Amino acid sequence: MSEKWSLHIEVQRQKGKEQPHFDRFDLEISPEATVLDAVEMIWAFKDRSLCFGHACHHSTCGACGMRVNGVEKLTCITLISEVTQNGGTLRLQPLRNLPVISDLVVDLTPLYHRMAEVKHPSVHPVEENEGVASQQIAQAGKSNNPYTRLADCIECGLCISVCPAAMTSPAYIGPAVLAGAQLAVVMDEHVCAIVDTQNGVWRCHSAYECSEVCPSHVQPAQRIMQLRRHLLSQRIRRFFGLQSLHQRKQ
Ligand code: SF4
Ligand code: FES
Repeated sequence: MSEKWSLHIEVQRQKGKEQPHFDRFDLEISPEATVLDAVEMIWAFKDRSLCFGHACHHSTCGACGMRVNGVEKLTCITLISEVTQNGGTLRLQPLRNLPVISDLVVDLTPLYHRMAEVKHPSVHPVEENEGVASQQIAQAGKSNNPYTRLADCIECGLCISVCPAAMTSPAYIGPAVLAGAQLAVVMDEHVCAIVDTQNGVWRCHSAYECSEVCPSHVQPAQRIMQLRRHLLSQRIRRFFGLQSLHQRKQ
């Protein structure tokens, strides 16, 4: 029989306008199960009113982000054995710096809207040299439709939750969107005008915590620094009366 651990799980609850509080559940679960498995067991066997986000269960949809013992995690790929021990406690909380809809579910709408503003594409065309996928496409040869793949950011919100600048400045565009702008960029003037602002790249404190928690290795902090260098070079070009890089591409 597979080993089971006894866990005490504290879940932050909040419905409507009520104050956040913790409910405690005791659970027997395999250490090789995921944190999301534990949340689903609580919902299935202990409390059907528990709200949480999930869909793909393999780190693609970005719906299952939570704080686990104070650390931002994608719970569908976080094993129980990684975050606690037999007889230990798991404290589950919603992500920070985003409005709580109910219990462990936050509203990611601001992130989606801001991503759209900087024209970050959620899918990219499949390139010729992308290995198996492009070979299969070439062999299939039956469709003229362009093939696309998901871009690297899964819009999970973990980087926003851990960001000290997002905590103090709700108007801050945030690490995911700035990383998206850097990817979408070698940008046009419209995107530059959005990100080259006090609530854009210049609000970042260079804490690099966003890159630490990102499950998709987007490295938002490094991309923000690249974006700053790009914008500074644009300013210098303008100062010397040179064409911007965007104008040169047109
Ligand atoms: S940059 Fe990383 S942590 Fe932030 S939303 Fe995208 S995938 Fe999630
Ligand atoms: S359930 Fe989709 S990323 Fe975790």
